[in-house]
Amino acid sequence: MIDWVKNYSINARRLKKSAIREILKLTNRPEIISFAGGLPAPETFPIDEVIDIVDTVMKREGHKALQYGPTDGYPAFVDQLLKWEKRMNGLDLTPANILPTTSSQQALDLIGKILIDPSDPVLVERPTYLGGLSAFNQYGARFVGVPMDEDGTGLNVTDLEGKLQELREDGEHYKFVYVVPDFQNPSGITISQEKRKRILELSDEYSFILLEDSPYRELRFEGTAPDMMYKMDTSGNVVTLHTMSKTFAPGFRIGWVVGPEEFIDKLNTAKQASDLCTPSFTQSIMAEFMARGLLEKNIERAKLLYKKKKHLMVDAMEQFMPQHEHINWTNPEGGLFLWITLPEYFDTDKMFFEAVDKKVAYIKGSAFDCYHKMKNTMRMNFSYPSEGQIEDGIKRLATLIKSKLKD
Ligand SMILES: Cc1ncc(COP(=O)(O)O)c(C=O)c1O
Repeated sequence: MIDWVKNYSINARRLKKSAIREILKLTNRPEIISFAGGLPAPETFPIDEVIDIVDTVMKREGHKALQYGPTDGYPAFVDQLLKWEKRMNGLDLTPANILPTTSSQQALDLIGKILIDPSDPVLVERPTYLGGLSAFNQYGARFVGVPMDEDGTGLNVTDLEGKLQELREDGEHYKFVYVVPDFQNPSGITISQEKRKRILELSDEYSFILLEDSPYRELRFEGTAPDMMYKMDTSGNVVTLHTMSKTFAPGFRIGWVVGPEEFIDKLNTAKQASDLCTPSFTQSIMAEFMARGLLEKNIERAKLLYKKKKHLMVDAMEQFMPQHEHINWTNPEGGLFLWITLPEYFDTDKMFFEAVDKKVAYIKGSAFDCYHKMKNTMRMNFSYPSEGQIEDGIKRLATLIKSKLKD
């Protein structure tokens, strides 16, 4: 009998089951109103359009679309991405700056593989995207957490500088800072234009790669957007991740990385070892979807829906949550999530099971903290629950929170 565990590599031993995936199994019961998942609303999936496009593409270029493709991407898709980045973000790119990936999560994994040696410090926001933490953790990252400012403008840049200074003095080889700057998962916070500028200055001063992971940027339903950091950067320090998961459909598993040629080339080589190429099929369908101008339309449709749902959630919270100086929430101008902070003595890890008893679910904030603290916080998703469920679910949650208030 083989002892499987004994045979696992050091990297495999570091792998942990995702806390969220385990929790989601509990919240799938139909009687539970779940604000837990990070799913786009299925109403936004362009099913009829995809049926028509699959038919067209298969008849026109099925022999190519079902074949292995180049690692650097299906040419028609890369071409659409270049136009998209120009139109949406003002970027002048060449194909050498772009690599299609099997979604952003693959990009995070490949970047971890390329950049992280065991015990390398990786600087992350507190809170940050759990999937980023898992991807980097398997390569032995040592996380250094940078808190967010309370004014909702994103990470505390003074703290970031302090941590960089300390690491530099200790002779540590930090390589990159990971940020989710637009409607962050989990907090919904967007990094302000001034802070973006400062972070880029620091990336020059302290010589670090800035990893800008931005799946929600296009989903801005109010307010004005700060610039992409890739656009603002004049030194070639930034690598940006994009995905079609929230603007089109996560089932396609399609995304892309934008970065300096040298880095994209290395990423390409790592990708060859990982999956040879992003599926030609999904890239060919996506290229046609974009060529028909349907991506913009889909995004517009999603934005209308998410704006309505976000307002329903915030209105319900204003109405039903206890008035308390230490109970507050973010009010994002886009994306899929908002973030609730409760008085320090709350433990949302423990409270989760009581919430499920009351038939409402959220994700505990500690799941997104590299130090597993922040136990008085929770992530709330507003894109997936139906409009009808939002008010009821918030009422249930507010009643539970009220019952646990000590003052
Ligand atoms: C910040 C962030 N990065 C990356 C991902 C991964 O997305 P995908 O692999 O579907 O592109 C997500 C998904 O929720 C996310 O929120």
